Amino acid sequence: MAKLIILILCLILSCPLSSSSSNGLWAGSSLSVESASDVLTSPDGIFSAGFHPVGQNAYSFAIWFNKPSCNANSCTIVWMANRDQPVNGKGSRLCLQKSGNLVLKDAGHIVVWETKTISVSPTQLKLENGGNLVLRDSRGRKLWQSYDSPTDTLLPLQPFTENSRLISSKSQGNHSSGYYQLYFDTDNVLCLLYKGPEFSSVYWPSPWLLRWEAGRSTFNNSKIAVLDSLGNFSSTDNFTFVSADYGSRVPRMLKMDLDGNIRLYSLNEDEETWVVSWQAFPQPCMAHGCCGPNSICIYIPDSGRKCSCPPGYIMVDPTDWSLGCQSEFKLSCNETEVGYLKLRHVEYYGYDYNMYPNVTLDDCKRICSELCDCKGFQFRFIKAHEPDGTYCYPKTQLLNGHRPPNFNADFYLKVPKATVPFYNNSVQDIKLQCSNKLIQPLERHYSKKHVNESVRFALWSASAVGVVEILTVIFVWCFLIRTHDHDKSPMARRSPAAMGINGSSDGSGSKTEQRTLVAWVKEHMGRAEEIGETWKQEIIDPKLKGEYDEGEMLDLVAAALRCVQEDRDARPTMGEVVEMLLRHKCH
Ligand SMILES: *[C@@H]1O[C@H](CO)[C@@H](O)[C@H](O)[C@H]1NC(C)=O
Ligand SMILES: *[C@@H]1O[C@H](CO)[C@@H](O)[C@H](O)[C@H]1NC(C)=O
Ligand SMILES: *[C@@H]1O[C@H](CO)[C@@H](O)[C@H](O)[C@H]1NC(C)=O
Ligand SMILES: *[C@@H]1O[C@H](CO)[C@@H](O)[C@H](O)[C@H]1NC(C)=O
Ligand SMILES: *[C@@H]1O[C@H](CO)[C@@H](O)[C@H](O)[C@H]1NC(C)=O
Ligand SMILES: *[C@@H]1O[C@H](CO)[C@@H](O)[C@H](O)[C@H]1NC(C)=O
Ligand SMILES: *[C@@H]1O[C@H](CO)[C@@H](O)[C@H](O)[C@H]1NC(C)=O
Repeated sequence: MAKLIILILCLILSCPLSSSSSNGLWAGSSLSVESASDVLTSPDGIFSAGFHPVGQNAYSFAIWFNKPSCNANSCTIVWMANRDQPVNGKGSRLCLQKSGNLVLKDAGHIVVWETKTISVSPTQLKLENGGNLVLRDSRGRKLWQSYDSPTDTLLPLQPFTENSRLISSKSQGNHSSGYYQLYFDTDNVLCLLYKGPEFSSVYWPSPWLLRWEAGRSTFNNSKIAVLDSLGNFSSTDNFTFVSADYGSRVPRMLKMDLDGNIRLYSLNEDEETWVVSWQAFPQPCMAHGCCGPNSICIYIPDSGRKCSCPPGYIMVDPTDWSLGCQSEFKLSCNETEVGYLKLRHVEYYGYDYNMYPNVTLDDCKRICSELCDCKGFQFRFIKAHEPDGTYCYPKTQLLNGHRPPNFNADFYLKVPKATVPFYNNSVQDIKLQCSNKLIQPLERHYSKKHVNESVRFALWSASAVGVVEILTVIFVWCFLIRTHDHDKSPMARRSPAAMGINGSSDGSGSKTEQRTLVAWVKEHMGRAEEIGETWKQEIIDPKLKGEYDEGEMLDLVAAALRCVQEDRDARPTMGEVVEMLLRHKCH
């Protein structure tokens, strides 16, 4: 019960009304999702941080550019605290606790994100120039900064390190973590990775090149990359580029885009649009995964990237290309019952069963036919390699299919022999949109996944009446004591239990008439001081098993004690009591 009271008081009072100062957030204050003015702005006015809508009644705590001029739905977001777990549009808060922890709480008081920082000295959260949200202690030391945990965007002068990852969004309308990542691989090279539900593969730098062939160095393990303020990006793996507008000091951002490319964007002179001032590769089909298993990515310059299914295959889900295609037929393991369709200039990357040099096309067909798992093979003539010759790559999976420009090789797709003449007529491209999932508004429903949290929430609702009662008890108690200059309050008997104060540790709880709560608490405090213990151990109910917030408990006791001062003028006014209770930090 006592725990519940502490909890409830804390829930009601934990996040004091915000200071809503755009300069910074002080320890013990908070920003509310409901207040549009609860926004931190960088001194130069370029960035803001606050709750940003990400769907219907769904919000994320984010940092965004104030230009191009944006309303709630169109801001250029550069960072998010809780991209994968948006919070409710009512009652959610970002609290800077007195303990130094920065906590994002959903309306149900579920902690969805926290910095896990601790500080004995007061802390302050500020949005600095450059778009870095920084938590400092009173000596100015950085306890935490948003620069250390980027989402999909890297800002100028924000170091990209061994521990950083830029992860693309899921789709245009869904900011949660998607499938593409920029990171430093274990060989110290900056890479792009597709990490989907079914498979993952690195596609940049080109995986068929050796690292040094791609201009990368694997020797420097400091793994740091940074974009300077003039537009020069350089990485310790010797990868560098300069933006098309190199030299000008305009706002820029490097973004892991949802099509798997990384692009540098510069704010246009009119400050109304972002223009691409660099991208990792011009061929969008180079990014793996987009079209899903078995499908083929085709780039059409004016209309962008398209996906299609090869003959004999159909889309798994007509609304979602990322699931790819599946075959309409069942392949026989009997080698005399299979045949091949030639797909010109098509490449499926990876999942080679083996590589066979110097074999004829018929040999390669035979190899694939004898392999029950083989779904087709890549057959190419490679001049550049020593020695020149033909190469046969049977495949057990058909992934990352595309038609690279000037790709001088063909793919042979295995199909049932009887169907070859039929499908042979349809060896053409079926051009379909490579769309990401249809954009649906993100609706936020309460998912009470965590038992603890839901129990807590149930308790919380169930005892709403209790809270009112207890608060009334406290207030009436103070009121009575203030009004009647009388030490023995009729409430005193009830309070030890209600306050979670141990009135019965020595079996004398029923004798509270002789020993008032006040005398009892004071006595225990005195005794504790003598034996050098903290007095809270003496007075707080052991049933709480330490599951309470010390600071809050002590505040409560202190408030109670002040209420029962013998000297009437030393007692707090009702206003002061409320204030004392409101002072509780975020829990
Ligand atoms: C880095 O690249 C430059 C040219 O782009 C080359 O001259 C230099 O040797 C490279 N350094 C390493 C360590 O690979
Ligand atoms: C690695 O890169 C850092 C930063 O560019 C540089 O200071 C350091 O000397 C490099 N180390 C080696 C071994 O090249
Ligand atoms: C970009 O920065 C790197 C590392 O600081 C430097 O070596 C290179 O010369 C710079 N490039 C240009 C064009 O300034
Ligand atoms: C493979 O199919 C051929 C013709 O359909 C048949 O004659 C042969 O017995 C089959 N072989 C096996 C191992 O099933
Ligand atoms: C391919 O065959 C040619 C001629 O038969 C031979 O000279 C060459 O060494 C062979 N290459 C390989 C990789 O076996
Ligand atoms: C498939 O069609 C092409 C012409 O479109 C033809 O040259 C080829 O022989 C046909 N292949 C089969 C196995 O029927
Ligand atoms: C956004 O993506 C996440 C992760 O796949 C998913 O759980 C969520 O439902 C998506 N939201 C919408 C609106 O599609």
